[in-house]
Amino acid sequence: MTLKVLSVASEAVPLIKTGGLADVVGALPAALAGEEVEMITLLPGYPAVMAKAGKVRKVVGFDSLLGEPARIVSGRMADGRKLLVLDAPNYFAREGGPYGDPSGSDWGDNWRRFAALGYAAAHLAGAFGAKKRFDLVHAHDWQAAMACVYLRYGGKPVPSVLTIHNMAFQGFFGGEIFPRLGLPDAAWTIDGVEFHGGVGMLKGGMVCADAITTVSPTYAREIHTARFGMGLDGVIRARTHLVEGILNGIDKAEWDPASDLNLTSQFDSGHLGKRKANKRALEKVFGLDKGEGPLFVVVSRLTWQKGIDVLLEVIDHLIGLGGRLALLGAGDASLEAGLREAAERHKGKVGLHFGYDEALSHLMQGGGDAILVPSRFEPCGLTQLYGLAYGCVPVVTRTGGLADTVIDANPAAMGEGTATGIVFTEASYDEFSLAISRAIRLYADKPAWKRLQKSGMRADFGWEASAAAYAALYRRLTGRAQ
Ligand code: ADP
Ligand code: GLC
Repeated sequence: MTLKVLSVASEAVPLIKTGGLADVVGALPAALAGEEVEMITLLPGYPAVMAKAGKVRKVVGFDSLLGEPARIVSGRMADGRKLLVLDAPNYFAREGGPYGDPSGSDWGDNWRRFAALGYAAAHLAGAFGAKKRFDLVHAHDWQAAMACVYLRYGGKPVPSVLTIHNMAFQGFFGGEIFPRLGLPDAAWTIDGVEFHGGVGMLKGGMVCADAITTVSPTYAREIHTARFGMGLDGVIRARTHLVEGILNGIDKAEWDPASDLNLTSQFDSGHLGKRKANKRALEKVFGLDKGEGPLFVVVSRLTWQKGIDVLLEVIDHLIGLGGRLALLGAGDASLEAGLREAAERHKGKVGLHFGYDEALSHLMQGGGDAILVPSRFEPCGLTQLYGLAYGCVPVVTRTGGLADTVIDANPAAMGEGTATGIVFTEASYDEFSLAISRAIRLYADKPAWKRLQKSGMRADFGWEASAAAYAALYRRLTGRAQ
């Protein structure tokens, strides 16, 4: 019997994206369709979402949703997919990004914007006596976590799953907002949203959800520790029996080098020579000289998580050994400034593109020789998966999903033909610069490099296995056997 699942999130491809969360939320409905799960996504009605929701129909109206008028509307995207949108102009019809104003500062009322999203989701699933339209709610990250909280305190009509895509973002606010959340006093405890005297939205979701998943098995283990738990490891340990790591997949309809129209030249593993045209195109876009050494690429948020400060330290080493670097990213101004200085120092060898550019991100995977992902922690990571699929060899730290998806080119794995990239232990100058030296040496051995590319392209990180794992979890929680 088909299960009806409401997926709730703050971003989803192709409507609104700032990172991997959007890729995953966008891909899940199609991935689950083969599992007899009908998943519909509820998103905030940002201008970009309203514009792409097609002709909409009102499903529910609220005179006051945590203080502002709102309605939930249903629409269809250009590809025919059904979508639910929280149309609340006072919350979401704003210039800027999903979380902050055009200058990048977080909106001061994010607590209310995303609590409203959670409330709307719980309402759609029958909380507080509303009509029950779904069998289960799947909430993503802190921005949707309050759905689990409102479900629990609204009568618990259906079970909920909370997926943590990144423990570093917790939606923690001052305790003064509690009375404005429309929750009973019983929610102001350590078993509810209270966290160190404030309101913890991710924490609230974690204690109210019926299952907690995260996006790789290694990260699921890591968040049990103080080093990766970001203060929430105690909550994870207390609920360890509900925690599961389900690896993200990649959407092959969007990310297939044989059909990707963002590439100058499409290719498959039997025709790696065709990648050259993409490399030439990249050199042009980034103003790079031609060179014998590998072209390293980076596609990343520019943050501490991603180890971009360590990248800055190794750039001279990378260039000194004959490598070149093309970076696409947006984020911390100080990291941008450091990168600009490096590009000044290494004209024609280091090229930068600041901002968000989906098409260029594809070309970089299709034309780069190796993608650098020196993250300090990485719940799953998608850019290394795209790198594998595109023959752009990943060079990654051994953490989270990076550890679960890339096989280091050590002699044993090279001998067996199973190696797919280069893995180093931590985001430090010593480890990262050694990894770059290894990559440059390996690149010089053309047959070995080609083997690495090909085994990466053979690795299957599609959604099938993960979709089956989510479907099995939903069925367990709803008590519905297939
Ligand atoms: P995270 O979600 O932590 O940023 P992931 O590796 O899971 O990391 O996902 C990042 C996603 O965002 C990938 O799809 C990547 O291609 C994309 N991306 C990151 N930065 C940019 C950028 N500046 N321009 C285009 N795409 C980007
Ligand atoms: C987060 C994580 C990233 C993960 C993505 C999608 O943004 O930082 O590792 O791949 O979510 O789950």
